[in-house]
Amino acid sequence: MIDLQHVNKSYGQGATAFHVLKDINLHIDQGEFVAIMGPSGSGKSTLINIIGFLDTAFEGKYFFQDENVADFNATKASRMRNRHVGFVFQNFSLIHNLNIFENVLIPLSYGGHRRSEVRGKISELLESVGLTGMENKLPRNLSGGQQQRVAIARALANSPQFLIADEPTGALDSHTSADIMQLFKELHRKGGTIIMVTHDEHVAEQSDRMIKILDGQIISDTEVAHATK
Ligand SMILES: Nc1ncnc2c1ncn2[C@@H]1O[C@H](COP(=O)(O)OP(=O)(O)OP(=O)(O)O)[C@@H](O)[C@H]1O
Ligand SMILES: [Mg+2]
Repeated sequence: MIDLQHVNKSYGQGATAFHVLKDINLHIDQGEFVAIMGPSGSGKSTLINIIGFLDTAFEGKYFFQDENVADFNATKASRMRNRHVGFVFQNFSLIHNLNIFENVLIPLSYGGHRRSEVRGKISELLESVGLTGMENKLPRNLSGGQQQRVAIARALANSPQFLIADEPTGALDSHTSADIMQLFKELHRKGGTIIMVTHDEHVAEQSDRMIKILDGQIISDTEVAHATK
């Protein structure tokens, strides 16, 4: 589904250019659960921004279901993002003056759905992340873990082909972080494709495949052995 071939990415130009990603070759199939690890500044966010069609200014080829993402213009990239990708970030990125219902509604409203039609859909999404009946609450009245669940429900709203999560547990304590990982594992069991960046070895071990990046290069790509599966 995701196929990067000789992808290079630099910030800036000429003598001050900074070569962030160096000859990345990466294939991710539908249904995979991948963790990307590496030190700060190694290029993890840069890589997943390319994978999630947030950044199309790179060299090399990225085939997503046989279309070359390098050829996408801004309109096409944003349409592809809204249709195919769900994003989850470290700091949840919820809109604070909107309630939970309205936060989850955001990606659905781009699809031209009527508010009344999506009421049932949103309660199903909230139920799937363990937040049944929370529609009318404001983000500030939820715990960090609950806010991240709302962000995950919002990311799932358009039934994306894959989820991208950049340090989804980075702002959570270890107990809450384990809860969120249970949720990701459940989504994966139901067939979801998840690409997650993390600093945390324990979090990465919950995935099926661990990719390590150092100075913009993939230095290892290994299957994670699970005791029970
Ligand atoms: N918009 C930008 N302009 C210039 N340089 C950038 C830009 N974004 C990132 N960089 C640089 O590219 C390198 C890789 O950044 P990136 O954000 O991908 O790292 P990361 O692995 O996600 O790090 P972290 O773990 O701290 O999030 C860093 O040296 C960073 O300073
Ligand atoms: Mg980053």
